Amino acid sequence: MDRSGPRPARVILPAIAALIGLASLDGALGQTTARSLRAERWIAPGANRINVLSREPTACLDWPVDPAQRLSITIGRAAFRDPLLLGGQAARAGISCETCHRAGRDNPDFHFPGVSGAPGTADVTSSLFSSHRGDGLNNPKTIPDLSVEKFRLKVAQDRTSGDLERFIEGLVTQEFDGHAPPPVVLAGLADYVRALDPRSCPAQASRPITAQALLSDVDQTLETAATLSARGDNAAAQAMVRAARTRLFLVDERMTDPKLRAQLRAFDQTLSRTLTASAMTQARQNLGRSLTPAILRKVETSLFNSNRLAPGADSALPRRPS
Ligand code: HEC
Repeated sequence: MDRSGPRPARVILPAIAALIGLASLDGALGQTTARSLRAERWIAPGANRINVLSREPTACLDWPVDPAQRLSITIGRAAFRDPLLLGGQAARAGISCETCHRAGRDNPDFHFPGVSGAPGTADVTSSLFSSHRGDGLNNPKTIPDLSVEKFRLKVAQDRTSGDLERFIEGLVTQEFDGHAPPPVVLAGLADYVRALDPRSCPAQASRPITAQALLSDVDQTLETAATLSARGDNAAAQAMVRAARTRLFLVDERMTDPKLRAQLRAFDQTLSRTLTASAMTQARQNLGRSLTPAILRKVETSLFNSNRLAPGADSALPRRPS
């Protein structure tokens, strides 16, 4: 057993709390000198910050033809990107499955104080993330690329054994202190991981992070919510609305136009009260007709423009009223 590094939880917890607290204060004030994106919290020292914040790996996802399977993978893909699927400290920090397994792969640039050792590693039994499984030991492991050949992975992914579902449910509820996901969401997460396949990797290894792609995720996730709601699965539908909102946050935090941000907040408030399939469909229409075009008109001056991510590119910040 590894007894080399008992975790000084008393020291780490307040440090993280300070880190998270500061960042959210930034957001609340909206006009500090160095606007930071949430993902900056886990960029390894020495990593190419601009590259990490402006590009993402492409996904190796093998979309099946069967509509029921496609729906399940769509649900899982959205939940995989929702920090609120994970509870506790991870959710508060904004960490989702996708933070560590970017686009279903690995993340060599990941470093979170108190959780990582070398860049690209994480201790998933860290007491920081888990009140259940925290083992008090410092044993970070390399974050595995989930899109490699299945035989190279540890957890069996065949549908009959149910091992993958049990593993993911354990991750969410034991390692990250989350609530057990609705059955359809858990099945979706497992189907999403199963559908990751190295033969489906695009030729380009990475692509720019764009408002368009994030907004398209929001739209697709709301569409999925409406489908689930129409079937009477309200728990799963609400999980999807929540996932749409956390995706929308990633658009909001990069926009610099104050009026547009106010509009985004108002839309998010509406989503928080969106309970029926028809309201979800209505929200999609509002998103498509007014919000999306307004956002796309402002991307040049937003932090989706990688030139604006450079330290000292303060022109990207909202101007103080004079
Ligand atoms: C903080 C980073 C982090 C987060 C968040 C995270 N993982 Fe992982 N994941 C890891 C690490 C590290 C391992 C390797 C653990 C080991 O080897 O014991 C791993 C292992 C796995 C495996 C097993 C791979 C194999 O070899 O079979 C799967 C599947 C997986 N994660 C899926 C997920 C899902 C789904 C979520 C969200 C519910 C998630 N992970 C969230 C870091 C993370």
